[in-house]
Amino acid sequence: MPAKLSVNINKIATLRNSRGGNIPNVVKTAIDCQAFGANGITVHPRPDERHIRYQDVMDLVPHITTEFNIEGNPREGKFVALVLAAKPAQVTLVPDAPGQLTSNHGWDTVKEQDYLKQIVKQFTNAGIRVSLFIDPVPAMATAAAETGAARIEIYTEHYARCHEQGNANEALNACVATANAAQKAGLAVNAGHDLNLQNLSTLARHIPFLAEVSIGHALIADALYYGLHNTIQMYQRALAV
Ligand code: PXP
Repeated sequence: MPAKLSVNINKIATLRNSRGGNIPNVVKTAIDCQAFGANGITVHPRPDERHIRYQDVMDLVPHITTEFNIEGNPREGKFVALVLAAKPAQVTLVPDAPGQLTSNHGWDTVKEQDYLKQIVKQFTNAGIRVSLFIDPVPAMATAAAETGAARIEIYTEHYARCHEQGNANEALNACVATANAAQKAGLAVNAGHDLNLQNLSTLARHIPFLAEVSIGHALIADALYYGLHNTIQMYQRALAV
């Protein structure tokens, strides 16, 4: 079965917030993405609410008919309370700093083991699957399993940059080795960051058991040219390799 495509709709909120008002409508976009073939919706609320707002997350809840994935740093603001209230299918924990433009590193699952164990337990007890965002380093996947998390999300930015420059092999191998280590430790594997129509198929082909990708920036940018419906179908075809 191909990896599930979860569309990150943060960029839709960024566009809306640039003007005030409610255009484009975040909830309508989520409903349409699902109708157009997305297997999930991802949001990444941050305390400064510069794109997805906490209220958006709650407004989305009744409209998610696929899988809702909320990403964020559990140490920030009201994140934990928000996720427990929204009760998504999955929470992806990301160690980004306040005000960071976008995620740029994964958890150190060895050093942060005790903290992660406790926070993973809190979400798991509430019936929410936990995925930990990690760099493509096999040891981080092995230690992620010790926290009780169900999945890892491999941070694919480095792979994407190398792919752009035509020398993806080493970065791809690191993602594959990390995915294999995770699978061996009993974890399912997600991937995300800077994935696009050019680099997605290679990754999916090399990790045949990839469970889910979450894609925002490139997909929304592609939708300007191809339309949202076509674009989602194009990403689905890229995954079905
Ligand atoms: N995964 C995580 C943890 C992220 O923080 C982001 C960006 O919000 C993504 C995936 C999606 O990345 P992109 O917008 O580059 O597709």
